[in-house]
Amino acid sequence: MKSSNSRPSRVATNPFVHELKFTIPQAIQIGLMSVTVFPVRLLLVASLMLLAWPFAFVASLGRSDFVVEPPSWWMSAIDLCLRVIMRAMWFCGGFHWIKVKGQRAAPTEVPILAVAPHSSYFDAIPVTLTMCSIVGKLESRSIPVWGTLISYVRPVFVFRSDQDSRRKTVEEIKRRALSGGAWPQIMIFPEGTCTNRSGLILFKPGAFIPGLPVQPVVLRYPNALDTISWTWQGPGAFKLLWLTLCQPHNPLEIEYLPVYTPSDAERGDPALFANNVRKLMARALQLPLTDLSFDDREISLSRGPLRIHDYSGLLEFNRLACRLRPRAGRTDKVLEEQARRARKLQADGLSAEDFAQFLDLPLTDTLARVHSLFDQRGDGLIDARLYVIALSTAHRPSQSLETLKLAFEMYENEETGDVLRRDLAAILEIMLGVKNVELSSLFSSLKGPHRATITYDELCHFIEHHPSFVEDYLNFENHPRHRPKSNGRHKDD
Ligand SMILES: *[C@@H]1O[C@H](CO)[C@@H](O)[C@H](O)[C@H]1NC(C)=O
Repeated sequence: MKSSNSRPSRVATNPFVHELKFTIPQAIQIGLMSVTVFPVRLLLVASLMLLAWPFAFVASLGRSDFVVEPPSWWMSAIDLCLRVIMRAMWFCGGFHWIKVKGQRAAPTEVPILAVAPHSSYFDAIPVTLTMCSIVGKLESRSIPVWGTLISYVRPVFVFRSDQDSRRKTVEEIKRRALSGGAWPQIMIFPEGTCTNRSGLILFKPGAFIPGLPVQPVVLRYPNALDTISWTWQGPGAFKLLWLTLCQPHNPLEIEYLPVYTPSDAERGDPALFANNVRKLMARALQLPLTDLSFDDREISLSRGPLRIHDYSGLLEFNRLACRLRPRAGRTDKVLEEQARRARKLQADGLSAEDFAQFLDLPLTDTLARVHSLFDQRGDGLIDARLYVIALSTAHRPSQSLETLKLAFEMYENEETGDVLRRDLAAILEIMLGVKNVELSSLFSSLKGPHRATITYDELCHFIEHHPSFVEDYLNFENHPRHRPKSNGRHKDD
């Protein structure tokens, strides 16, 4: 797949991973702390959390999800107790002093605080310091103890199972934001997922759709050893807790930036509003912008024997494809159906008009751009099968064998189930996101150099027995372990 030249790709790195490496002194320190300070801290933290529970539980009795009750002295008393207990809990966890810069604006002035970068469950600290509401998964309510504490801050729940959930969540945020300070302020982590704080990923628009002023808040954890980042790939929750409790002190800085009032243009365009706030926060943090979003993490973290090697082209494709047809409308059945039609077309080149017809969509700019991504010879004609492979890869990045099967169904000879070597190369180019795939090593280990075809079962069997198949048997541009072409063991064509 070509990448369009309209926008430079800024997605060479992956902020959804966190690789933790210790120096020897750090390892010794953790060893010593593990048998001394750690058990004491863990006990204190756990006791304080248990102590907080009855307060949160009592406070949430008889509460309605739709109205805020009038202020009362006993609610204020409970709130004060909870704040003290939570602060003591973080203190025992090593967050002895927390630097707060800037001024938090009053709820009547700004209903929404946009907090970034989101990197960990320790980001609950600013929430418990302010007792702001948050936006969270409904499931989190049923976590023992912690779930009750979450419920205490009156979160806006996201109903994952509900088709309409995104709209409902945004509506609820809007309703509360327009209450003129009756509801608590809402802290939103607009990135919507945790990263390793190496850059700011794209913001979701929820916090910006109401078009009201927001206060940006930036978080910094200036620790030498990053025991905080809790990303999709990296140490798990308990390991991070353990390592964090084994640090003498965990520094945290919360900075309230000046309130940002949207312009008329930004009010009309939440994505523009979100992006401008993101830029401003990135400047305050001195971090780069990373043009990845929450929805991209599956593609950038694909697993399996045929995991995606260079995902920038597929990410771009996916963004365009989602604009053509929302992700929800992309089921396995739709893929099967498109594959069936693409198979019928075989190598017939489709012009942009034909492609629009193939997709049953009007010919728009976006559609033309998707079309141009597959125009490999530059003659304005594309092979629809390549589009289906890209769609399947983007749809289920970690089920590469399913995609491979679908691809074979489109390319194989009906009688023998064979796929030509050059077709397999084209399939793998799309699936791995690479160029100039070269299969001589594979074919010579498989059947001798004279074979020119392969079946799905043969290939699957081979991949099963060679877990690092891509590294050892394929060659392509920018291969991670680039082998010289004159390697004597392999015959090139
Ligand atoms: C964090 O993400 C960046 C890419 O944005 C990556 O280069 C870096 O290695 C990651 N850091 C860790 C500690 O994994």
